Amino acid sequence: MEKAANDIVAATEPRIEHAVASDREELLAFLLEVFRRNNPKHAPFEEIYPDLFLPNDEVMGRHAIIRDEGRIVSCVGAYPITVQVGSCRVESVGIGQVSTALDHLGRGYMTALLRHQLERAKRDGAVVAWLGGRRDRYSHFGFDNAGFAFEHGIDAHSLGKVDVVRDVSHRPATDEGAVTEEMFAIREGNGQTVIEPLDIYRLQLSRVGFTLEVWTAAMDDGHPDAWALFDSSRRRILEWCGSFDGRLAILSAMCKEGSAWRIETRGDERMLSFLREHCHWCGPTVATLAVLDAPGLLKALAPFVPEGFTPVAKEGPALARELFGPGPGSAHLPFYVPPLFHI
Ligand SMILES: CC(C)(COP(=O)(O)OP(=O)(O)OC[C@H]1O[C@@H](n2cnc3c(N)ncnc32)[C@H](O)[C@@H]1OP(=O)(O)O)[C@@H](O)C(=O)NCCC(=O)NCCS
Repeated sequence: MEKAANDIVAATEPRIEHAVASDREELLAFLLEVFRRNNPKHAPFEEIYPDLFLPNDEVMGRHAIIRDEGRIVSCVGAYPITVQVGSCRVESVGIGQVSTALDHLGRGYMTALLRHQLERAKRDGAVVAWLGGRRDRYSHFGFDNAGFAFEHGIDAHSLGKVDVVRDVSHRPATDEGAVTEEMFAIREGNGQTVIEPLDIYRLQLSRVGFTLEVWTAAMDDGHPDAWALFDSSRRRILEWCGSFDGRLAILSAMCKEGSAWRIETRGDERMLSFLREHCHWCGPTVATLAVLDAPGLLKALAPFVPEGFTPVAKEGPALARELFGPGPGSAHLPFYVPPLFHI
């Protein structure tokens, strides 16, 4: 039977805490127990997300928890992320680790924690929330499958001849020095990615579930001109940055070994139209997004907002669709979180 919104509020408002460093082991064990209910082979959370479970109060404090008789029985993580879209930056929050103990289900704990975390993120300046999860579950909290990104498959045949001369090489992403400070600086200026300090990025490169390679295009002087993070197990370019020609040289080198897949948004119009012209397949893809602050989001992505655009919807999934698409009348704002940063 469908639940009415009022049924979901806990009988007595549960006490919400922010985890601290000393909660780390208990929280990791709790999360694993919950997620192994659906997937007995679920990897330990500290291996999937080494960067999200650093043993300090600041990082652990991103997890809002509820206890019963001292034991953690529910958790929702909210991780601040700065999303780079072309030359724009969007302060965002990624939601994950949504979990309730089996013997505490249906008491409104997830609902209370999620509302708390979305309010907290908004207060801290996030304009949009992102998660990977069921649309029907999260639509009560303003999320919808929204966005207007396109995935392209490119191979040597579809790409044709590329006349760019660059020295292209690749190495495992976890090799020491695979991403140098010089390369990292190129990444900050353009692209569709998540911006964080280099030490955190290096930890993210060790997240399990990917086979990551760094592909680099160098100019005659040996300096990197462009580089790409490639998941060779799925042949996906997770992110790339640097000159257009350098990225083409990398794409061409990858295509010598088969298809390469790349999701591109309007954040990089030039690359988007190039891939559209040179793919053997393309199709749309969406993310699960909620708008926390519409004026703030429109300001952050101002170069992409159609002239005179004002959303009709005030909140909820309809607002997400109106700002991100797809759908008639949408602003089709570009926003993309590469799979490496999924939570
Ligand atoms: C999903 C999960 C966290 C729900 O926890 P919970 O504390 O029982 O949730 P609540 O008591 O707040 O809400 C109960 C239900 O009412 C739903 N609900 C919330 N607000 C609602 C509303 N306004 N109208 C209708 N339904 C609503 C919730 O989505 C939930 O349904 P679901 O369990 O199918 O998602 C829990 O089942 C769990 O830990 N699952 C395993 C881990 C998992 O899959 N996590 C999600 C990964 S994306």
